[in-house]
Amino acid sequence: MDNIIILDCGSQFTQLIARRIREMKVHSEILPWDTSIDEIKKRTPRGVIISGGPQSVHDEGSPTVSLDLFDLGVPVLGVCYGMQLLAKIFGGQVESGASREYGRTAIVVKNPEATLFMGISESFEVWMSHGDHIASLPEGFQLVAVTDKGVPAAFENRKRKIWGLQFHPEVAHTQNGTAILSKFLFDVCSCSGDWDLGNWIDTMVARIHKKTKGCQVICGLSGGVDSTVAAVLTAKAIGDRLECIFVNNGLLRHLEAERVLERYKALDLNVHYVDASHQFLQALRGVTDPERKRKIIGETFIRVFEAEASKIKDAEWLLQGTLYPDVIESGHKGKGASVIKSHHNVGGLPEDMKLKVLEPLRDLFKDEVRAIGRLLSVPPEIVDRQPFPGPGLAVRCLGEVTKERLDTLREADEIFREEFSKSDIYSSVWQAFCVLLPVRTVGVMGDSRTYSEVVALRAVESADGMTADWVRVPYDVLDRTARRICNTVKGINRVVLDVTSKPPSTIEWE
Ligand code: XMP
Repeated sequence: MDNIIILDCGSQFTQLIARRIREMKVHSEILPWDTSIDEIKKRTPRGVIISGGPQSVHDEGSPTVSLDLFDLGVPVLGVCYGMQLLAKIFGGQVESGASREYGRTAIVVKNPEATLFMGISESFEVWMSHGDHIASLPEGFQLVAVTDKGVPAAFENRKRKIWGLQFHPEVAHTQNGTAILSKFLFDVCSCSGDWDLGNWIDTMVARIHKKTKGCQVICGLSGGVDSTVAAVLTAKAIGDRLECIFVNNGLLRHLEAERVLERYKALDLNVHYVDASHQFLQALRGVTDPERKRKIIGETFIRVFEAEASKIKDAEWLLQGTLYPDVIESGHKGKGASVIKSHHNVGGLPEDMKLKVLEPLRDLFKDEVRAIGRLLSVPPEIVDRQPFPGPGLAVRCLGEVTKERLDTLREADEIFREEFSKSDIYSSVWQAFCVLLPVRTVGVMGDSRTYSEVVALRAVESADGMTADWVRVPYDVLDRTARRICNTVKGINRVVLDVTSKPPSTIEWE
């Protein structure tokens, strides 16, 4: 399998480069910029890309690469910071200030015969994001394109197999970005473009079979796409040797446990179902602080899971649905990245379980996991499911979490989701849900005064949950939802709409 290594210098777009390359059916892998040359060699890459990054090449301790990289005979492409680093390493001049360019910029191709620009229009728009710029090129490097401010936008040194782009070919705003990357992959690195998810399934099934060598494997299922796809894939490899545990924490949505169990049955998974609702609600009694709620739920989950797992004899492996972004996030924290993502891994499992960890999806992005799920006939209700937080409705039931309040929230939530799912915008929404507020307001129903709680409607669109905007839900959907909730859900006499984006708010209210 052809492999392109991306050395990550901390750009917010590094993952996007990997995704674009995989979309072109070439496998790619992100490694920290300070990965040793032996590690790189071991992976026999077809090409290496040095990513962008927030620092200046002149900053002390800023990312750099070993000179040995250029003796491997492997083509190297530097993007943004990566290009400036190449210029600096080979004796060019990188200057700060004056020519900063952020966002859309026009570039002019000076050499239409240049490897990455052949057959591409002479002038087009690209996405820039740089403070420093290259003031003079290293010896032996040819200028390929410039910005309208005259700053080098691309260079090449064919003899040394080095290419540089000051702009980001991976972002959608860059015209011809895919064509340029494709030239690097196929014309320069001679990749064959045969990375295929169907093949991936066959290879992974064989690998899981070999790795687990007749032992039992335990898996915690949540009803979501990652754990389900990991389980279905593993069951394909080892059948009943996979034993899954599904914990009902009493914080699931309306009829969710029942629906999820039915789906697991249809998928032929071997599931131990534990209804621990009572235990969770007991532990949450009287607690209103959001962080304490999360902690209690996490700890209770571990206890319940351990108790059930201990009933499974001869278990040696713990299957987890870890994805590639999780691996990257936890793997190279602090090595030049300026954005730090907060994790909400309340469903985390105990480290002292003494089980070996099996993570078949750790190489994949979410959309690839969804595609694998479809290939494995996992139903759309799971594959396209909206994200649901580990602590469940507890973080949407503000104030004390009681069975009565959860039931109220579940009823209202079901109505909103039902009305919403009938609208055209449903499939484009990241999440749509209700939040029960610990606030009582006065109302009037059937000539009587009421003093009841309030439900907030939250619907957001987002690409990754990191930032989000509120969805302009059609008025008739809002109207029907509010009327149905007030008319049928006991204890609610007012419905409000959350119209904040993230930031400054978060998606969940707690
Ligand atoms: P926030 O509220 O931080 O949420 O804007 C971002 C995304 O993460 C989901 N979320 C969680 N997912 N465990 C999870 O697995 C959690 O504890 C958790 N908290 C929030 C949230 O639903 C949104 O999609």
